[in-house]
Amino acid sequence: MIEFSDVWLRMGNHDTFKGINLRVWPGGTRVILGLSGSGKSTILKLMLGLIKPDRGTIRIGDRTVTSMDEQEWQTVRHDMSMVFQGSALFDSLTVGENVGYRLREEGVHQEAAIEQRVSRSLCFVGLEDTVDMMPSDLSGGMKKRVAIARALAWGPKIILYDEPTGGLDPANSLMVSELILRLHKQGGVSQVVVTHDLDIARRVAVRFAIINDGTIVFDGKEEELRRSTDPSVLALLKPDADVAGLQGEGNGRILQEPTPTIPGGQA
Ligand SMILES: Nc1ncnc2c1ncn2[C@@H]1O[C@H](COP(=O)(O)OP(=O)(O)OP(=O)(O)O)[C@@H](O)[C@H]1O
Ligand SMILES: [Mg+2]
Repeated sequence: MIEFSDVWLRMGNHDTFKGINLRVWPGGTRVILGLSGSGKSTILKLMLGLIKPDRGTIRIGDRTVTSMDEQEWQTVRHDMSMVFQGSALFDSLTVGENVGYRLREEGVHQEAAIEQRVSRSLCFVGLEDTVDMMPSDLSGGMKKRVAIARALAWGPKIILYDEPTGGLDPANSLMVSELILRLHKQGGVSQVVVTHDLDIARRVAVRFAIINDGTIVFDGKEEELRRSTDPSVLALLKPDADVAGLQGEGNGRILQEPTPTIPGGQA
């Protein structure tokens, strides 16, 4: 479980967080919605220990991480993978090298085991044929799926996604949502998805938290969301007008694939 209790954070001369309370249950998919600048990326940085809160407590698993030093944090981060907003693939490495990068850096696994994990992870995202391609040969949607494969290959207990559908067209957004949903159904991994996109939020979870002006202004189901009169909630609902029209689109191959088991095991 990840638990934020009364987390405060000041950045520059601005209180980015003013008492955040939030839980991510083991095996759950937690969606945090927020407009640009609301602090979504900052929440993930707190979960990764890249910044520390000024006040409050963060617990990850059964450990209080807020008082940890960098060495202890490294053991916590070992269980996590991050899917960055811009995919963040290394341009000079092949797709396969990108996906296996962290495993090779770690130096624990045999090359054959790494290759197997790379192949299974790429297979999971429907891109097994791209292993020898360069990132520059891929579309934005494919890069995002490779970034997810890279996160999976590590065998994490927790995957953090920063705007996983940012910059993608509707079909690719749907594909990425499907991958997150499949991982959820398969179990064994907790997922945190931060996004401004209500469409992906409702596809991957029944509950959402909404962050605005430093606090969680909403935490509940979509029906309750629609009854809200909070202006920040309404601002997120607005771009939702043509969402219904996207139902059923996307790449059939990914959507219809049988659900394989999670690639790798614990790293
Ligand atoms: N290093 C920093 N120093 C000062 N303020 C910062 C710093 N990083 C972020 N901020 C501020 O903290 C707030 C939250 O930023 P954050 O990047 O987490 O928002 P976000 O919700 O991820 O936005 P976006 O949707 O645009 O990615 C913003 O007001 C931002 O200007
Ligand atoms: Mg951000």
